[in-house]
Amino acid sequence: MYQTWEELEQECNNCTKCKLCNNRHNVVIGTGNKNAKVMFIGEGPGADEDIQGIPFVGKAGKLMDKAFEGVGIKREEVYIANIVKCRPPNNRNPEYEEADTCKEYLDSQMKLINPEIIVLLGSVALKNILGKEYGITASRGKWIEKDGIKYLPTFHPAALLRDESKKIDFWKDLKEIVNYTK
Ligand code: URA
Repeated sequence: MYQTWEELEQECNNCTKCKLCNNRHNVVIGTGNKNAKVMFIGEGPGADEDIQGIPFVGKAGKLMDKAFEGVGIKREEVYIANIVKCRPPNNRNPEYEEADTCKEYLDSQMKLINPEIIVLLGSVALKNILGKEYGITASRGKWIEKDGIKYLPTFHPAALLRDESKKIDFWKDLKEIVNYTK
């Protein structure tokens, strides 16, 4: 575990612990308020994130920004990170081993930020944080408490790009958390 952001960022930016380091342009550690009450966890960087070094700046991120704006959440108020910090090739899901290797960084971020709630964006975040037995369809919108942290699983914004009907539930879930961001 890393006790300071400096230590964490230094290690993470130079990380070669798994094969995802081979093709990356940038390590995507996270963005936002390091004292946030609300933390979002996605899956892993895509092409745009890999180039810019910032999470959720591509198509899915822009959709999430729009939804944030709609319910009154500011990106600067929350913290956004991913299960893995380097882009999986062709945007495939991160392997459990890769996620596991990267977990120390995410665990450290969670500890340093100490948020009141954590929003899990999609199945990869849900399964890696709460367990493989969880499914996103059954779990979305339901609060789950584990080790004193309250989690709210919801759809990944990329899923909304594929299926517009999911937008209503995503919006509903964001509305649940908006009060925590103030
Ligand atoms: N999808 C994710 O899960 N994370 C990002 O940062 C971008 C797209």
